[in-house]
Amino acid sequence: MITLGIESSCDETGLALYCTNKGLLAHALFSQTDQHALYGGVVPELASRDHVRRLVPLTRDVCKQANCTLNEIDSVAFTAGPGLAGALLTGAMMGRGLAWALQKPALGVHHLEGHLLAPMLEPDPPVFPFVCLLVSGGHTQLVVVRGLGQYELLGESIDDAAGEAFDKTAKMLGLSYPGGPELARLAECGDAAAVPLPRPMMDRPNLDFSFSGLKTAAITRLKAFNQTNNDPTTQERFRADLAASFQQAVVDVLIGKSQRALAQTGLSRLVISGGVSANQQLRAAADELETRGISVFYPRLEFCTDNGAMIALAGALRLARGDASDMSVNVKPRWPLESLNEHTYQP
Ligand code: KG4
Ligand code: ZN
Repeated sequence: MITLGIESSCDETGLALYCTNKGLLAHALFSQTDQHALYGGVVPELASRDHVRRLVPLTRDVCKQANCTLNEIDSVAFTAGPGLAGALLTGAMMGRGLAWALQKPALGVHHLEGHLLAPMLEPDPPVFPFVCLLVSGGHTQLVVVRGLGQYELLGESIDDAAGEAFDKTAKMLGLSYPGGPELARLAECGDAAAVPLPRPMMDRPNLDFSFSGLKTAAITRLKAFNQTNNDPTTQERFRADLAASFQQAVVDVLIGKSQRALAQTGLSRLVISGGVSANQQLRAAADELETRGISVFYPRLEFCTDNGAMIALAGALRLARGDASDMSVNVKPRWPLESLNEHTYQP
């Protein structure tokens, strides 16, 4: 069975073809970041308009890559939420319309389910059950994944998501949007021990996170430093030290709480997915858990951030089990992952 996956929840248009026998056949992505960088963040209306421009050419692109005609597609999966309403609607309209024309089933997929299953596209996929640390621009969650649709939320951020904290801190460091990768690059020339920063919520026994205070602490440090130091070279070194120290603080908390989740659940497999799972410092720290008997899994770098392949995969797994939804075009900009279950899947 070949499933066309469509991702359009935010600022990336992703298309992919996934075959239940052969695996991923093709994928294509257009990132709108250059357009939004001018405004320092995603402008929803611009995002929707650009998805409309990209969806059809990218669909043609994946069909060409896979040497497959539209008629050979057996089902369509599109991101139905959570995300920006207008952006979600573009993919949902296209997905439903195409499926209707082809007389094939279509399914609205939960974006976070896509992220947490993404490592299953890799050659050595994780098997259920596992703990998933889901770290993206909009979410930071620890979830026990016992099977498809069997998700138990252990903890989440009570304010900013990890990616959001990266982006906001990067912005005040004068870096361009999206700031996460830029901050990580700046941190490479900094000393992670140079600027003492808090490890929020680590002293609490629960598995929740909070990154808003850490971001404020970093901003306060920068302002205080720049008020007493005018030398551009010293200021530049401090920026790099602050970036490295901030990144280390986020990584320490994410890994610390993941370890706690593994200990509490007695599980020994950890999946890290979502945009922030592309962070090399986070991956290095997680890899160290392997020495303690934990197996760690990530998507390949290009599937950490939003993409169509993870939506095609999640949709294919759901559709293979008989999940289906009616022909109405429904999207859910807010859609808690815990509300999903094994069988019903109607956004
Ligand atoms: O999963 P994603 O593409 O979109 C959402 O569903 O939110 O995640 C995007 C987030 C952004 O906040 C971006 O700055 C962050 O992931 N990100 C990173 C890195 N690459 C992407 N954060 C830290 N280090 C990175 N290397
Ligand atoms: Zn995402």
